[in-house]
Amino acid sequence: MPVMSTRPPIAAVVAALGLCLILLVGAEDGSGRSYVAAVYEHFVYLNPKPHVPLSRAAALEHMKKNLDVYEAQAALAAGKGAQIIVFPEDGIHGFNFSRSSIAGYLEAIPDPQKENWNPCTEPGRHAHTEVLQRLSCMARRHRLFLVANMAALQPCSVTFDLTCPPDGRWQFNTDVVFRSDGLLVARYHKYNLYFENAFDKPPSSELVTFDTPFAGTFGVLTCFDILFHDPTVTLLNKGVRQLVYPTAWMNQLPLLATVQFQWAFSRGANVSVLGANIRSDPLGMTGSGIFSPDTALYHHARAGELEAGKLLVGRLPVLDPSWLQDRGAMERGGLGDGGTEPPPGSEALSGVGGTGGVGGVGVWSSSVTDSFCLPKEEGCQRTAPSSSPLPPNLFHSSMMYDQFAFKLLLDSEGELTVCDGSFCCRLQYRRSPLEGSKELYALGAFAGTHVVNGRYALQVCALVRCSGTVDRSCGQEVEEADTKMDFLLEGKFSTQHVYPSVVVSQVVLERPDAVERSADGRVVMRHSGTTAGLVTACLYGRMYDQDGA
Ligand SMILES: *[C@@H]1O[C@H](CO)[C@@H](O)[C@H](O)[C@H]1NC(C)=O
Ligand SMILES: *[C@@H]1O[C@H](CO)[C@@H](O)[C@H](O)[C@H]1NC(C)=O
Repeated sequence: MPVMSTRPPIAAVVAALGLCLILLVGAEDGSGRSYVAAVYEHFVYLNPKPHVPLSRAAALEHMKKNLDVYEAQAALAAGKGAQIIVFPEDGIHGFNFSRSSIAGYLEAIPDPQKENWNPCTEPGRHAHTEVLQRLSCMARRHRLFLVANMAALQPCSVTFDLTCPPDGRWQFNTDVVFRSDGLLVARYHKYNLYFENAFDKPPSSELVTFDTPFAGTFGVLTCFDILFHDPTVTLLNKGVRQLVYPTAWMNQLPLLATVQFQWAFSRGANVSVLGANIRSDPLGMTGSGIFSPDTALYHHARAGELEAGKLLVGRLPVLDPSWLQDRGAMERGGLGDGGTEPPPGSEALSGVGGTGGVGGVGVWSSSVTDSFCLPKEEGCQRTAPSSSPLPPNLFHSSMMYDQFAFKLLLDSEGELTVCDGSFCCRLQYRRSPLEGSKELYALGAFAGTHVVNGRYALQVCALVRCSGTVDRSCGQEVEEADTKMDFLLEGKFSTQHVYPSVVVSQVVLERPDAVERSADGRVVMRHSGTTAGLVTACLYGRMYDQDGA
């Protein structure tokens, strides 16, 4: 299930409206191909005693409450033209089961690679598959592709399979995908578990994709997977450009708020992400969206806001290159149907809002940008601001359990560099209002392995608003800010996997004006004209090849 720490829920002072924002214009890329997707953030009906085993009948009765909500939302989504809908991780069964107490919830799911099975039209073929049948009929009734997450079992032989658990079965956290006629087309067992006692880690990482007639191929991953090389990066290396992403993600600023990271990943990997999260205040879970590198339709509930589900339906561009190529060829051959008309009632991502910092005039001329370099580098024409051996103003503070090197932004505008070992981050900034703001900001750098609640190697440059007025509050979570900031943030990374984000007050996402990469690993993010106070600007580099170190 979830990612990130156990931490107290955000102490929200104000119960404010949920944010459902539409950023940016141009849901269609140059090819003009697009489709309509839905994600549903679900306020899950929980089993109040998850550690107590219950009968299959009682488990089905529990799951029916969640499935009834899914049914209603699938109908609504279909009415708005959705061709695919994604539901969150753990949304049917809930949380906190043990390996034995979840037994009543488990279904054996046949491998769709080996068997064509439509649970809706052939319910008798496999026993104890009520959930599969219900989901399959939902897809079929509403004529859309449907992605859901459920608890699965798979018998194995203790005698012949050394990896088989002692009780003779695997228990997997599993995503299932149904075609719009109800056929089961994909089954994915979550590989990167996050404190999930009820489930086994599969013996190997599975690469699971499915094909659609409206947008080509999608890859499947779940929650914590998004931070790791397998299966995520391996899928992308195979050319997958569109991801369905059931999740149960604990939202955590400054660096890993749910929607922040989903869009950062989408932009950094140049893919689209259909992310559906659970809504739960006690678990700090919210944040769902339909993201492509240039467009975002998302929902982030404020703490204290009524806990309720949220359906998002939006249009986004097709990114699958082979599908686009095939369609192009078909049309050139006169066979195309030109079928890109929006289905009735769908909400196009384009033309609404315009929250992003698009078209903002940069405060730095391009010549300044071009000459931008780190002082330590060879050939750099700029001199370091200080030549003293101990960098002035440097301090360390914990951010997301990692010790960042920080420097405060002391002026209304300026430049600074902060290094963690040999990894350096550089910032040019101008804040506004120039006078009178008591809000403290710091530039942080971290290079190393994150080891709390998961182990993964990072190089991170982050400009953050500190939660208080002292050094040690830098890196702590804060959702609001009044200080607008024009900036250029730069790092030289030893990885090409760098995920950029800009978050402003109340977890509103902005699209950076520009993110430029060079072959030597340098990444420069420029942004100006933020619509609200800056909370975080981050270049989150994942050093996948160092994870084992
Ligand atoms: C369920 O697990 C979460 C952590 O994943 C924990 O914070 C919570 O207290 C647990 N709830 C119950 C009822 O055990
Ligand atoms: C992202 O993909 C699009 C095609 O979908 C391509 O035109 C563009 O150059 C890619 N951008 C990057 C930064 O690779």
